[in-house]
Amino acid sequence: MGDPSLRPDRIPRHVAVIMDGNGRWAQQRGRSRIEGHREGLEAVRAIVRAAGDFGVEVLTLYAFSLENWNRPQAEVTELMRLLDHYLEVELEEVMRNDIEVRVVGRLDRVPLGVRKRLEEAIERTRGGRAMKLVFALSYGGRAEIVDAARKLLRDAELGKVDPERLDEKTFAAYLYDPELPDPDLLIRTGAECRVSNFLLWQIAYSEIYVTETMWPDFREANLRDALIDYQSRERRFGLTSEQVRDGRESG
Ligand code: IPE
Ligand code: IPE
Ligand code: MG
Repeated sequence: MGDPSLRPDRIPRHVAVIMDGNGRWAQQRGRSRIEGHREGLEAVRAIVRAAGDFGVEVLTLYAFSLENWNRPQAEVTELMRLLDHYLEVELEEVMRNDIEVRVVGRLDRVPLGVRKRLEEAIERTRGGRAMKLVFALSYGGRAEIVDAARKLLRDAELGKVDPERLDEKTFAAYLYDPELPDPDLLIRTGAECRVSNFLLWQIAYSEIYVTETMWPDFREANLRDALIDYQSRERRFGLTSEQVRDGRESG
């Protein structure tokens, strides 16, 4: 991408983003929170395009948490409307760019119209090869683990899984979308250093990047900064630095 400090051979496969700070962005400008969410959509458009251009394979966007259902009704309604609007306006562009749309979360709580729009987007983009675009919607990390445990227990009752032989790989197959690799990089905009119930199982070894930039201001250059920072990290997965370097040399 013309930036000599970004190495194209070490782009994270899966980038997950906690898109936070819309409300504060608006507040700082004397505008309503809802206007902040509207501006946030521009950032979504830009980052979907940029992530694909950088060669990211999976981009997961935390669009709405289970806890967000407790926000004022007008804000919840507007957030759902905005998602609906995004899917309506961007679907053609997403298809043109060969992007596959997916969704994770407790969708039974999502308004029918939005759900239909999502189903259409998933249907029409299935098999897209450039990038997977995953919306975490009505999503909670603990809920995902509980939902996985529920399905697993049912299968155990049916004799399909043996509790004695349960391991992490078997368990992970019960998560919402087991085909996705774990995030390599977790980005949070809006400065808060917390995970807010996002992908709790999957972020076990993700590199975390928190920026003060509010989501509505986040653009390709900010994503590039995050990727450059990621590339400077040494991922050790519990090993020593020497082991990691030796492994890299021999492998
Ligand atoms: C993120 O921005 C959008 C959602 C949670 C849906 P916020 O609305 O949380 O913005 P702040 O954190 O209040 O600034
Ligand atoms: C996390 O942001 C959820 C999304 C970005 C969708 P929140 O604003 O809801 O998180 P907290 O409340 O600050 O932890
Ligand atoms: Mg917030």
